[in-house]
Amino acid sequence: MKFFLDTANIDQIKEAQDLGVIDGVTTNPSLMAKEGIKGTENILKHYVDICNIVDGDVSAEVISTDFEGMIEEGEKLASLHAQIVVKIPVIKEGIKAIKYLTSKGIRTNCTLVFTVGQALLAAKAGATYVSPFVGRLDDISHDGMELIAQIVDMFNYYGLKTQVLAASIRNTMHINKCIELGADVATCPLEPILGLLNHPLTDSGLKKFLDDYNKLNG
Ligand code: G3P
Repeated sequence: MKFFLDTANIDQIKEAQDLGVIDGVTTNPSLMAKEGIKGTENILKHYVDICNIVDGDVSAEVISTDFEGMIEEGEKLASLHAQIVVKIPVIKEGIKAIKYLTSKGIRTNCTLVFTVGQALLAAKAGATYVSPFVGRLDDISHDGMELIAQIVDMFNYYGLKTQVLAASIRNTMHINKCIELGADVATCPLEPILGLLNHPLTDSGLKKFLDDYNKLNG
């Protein structure tokens, strides 16, 4: 399973890249705003800065909601860097834009997916990734992980090549479930990924190894 970092924070992206297990980055307008990145030129430069830090795919989201606007923005974003994947919302115009951009060889990430039907439409349009939002479903008492399971099964059943990018991943248990269900990618902040390292037997085992070494060599 690939890990994308879900942030526009350069320090966190550098820290994750140094760890050596990050396969890309996802951003959205809210995450860019959180970092105080404003103005088209600054936003475009920020995407290029991120691409220059990480090795893998970097999702950059359009803000237009009409077909013409989305494809114009999408083509501009894709021309910034070979690593850019254009993120498009799963609305009617968005599906058309995904189809068009795919025909031009531009990779897309269909975002704000909350149903298996939305995921199917995005895949049929040729999306490289679909992004089901796990945490936001949990927030309204729906099982977000159930949606991941349904989409993984559906893509396998029909042999669809679109990758399941589990988004709105908030904690380490979400990641564990993504692994169990066979999601292609989980995108989240760095903290839940680091949570995978935690185990009391690792801590106590390491302490004993070092104590035993120090008894003879300390
Ligand atoms: O990748 C989508 C993600 O940024 C949404 O996460 O925590 O705002 O629901 P969240």
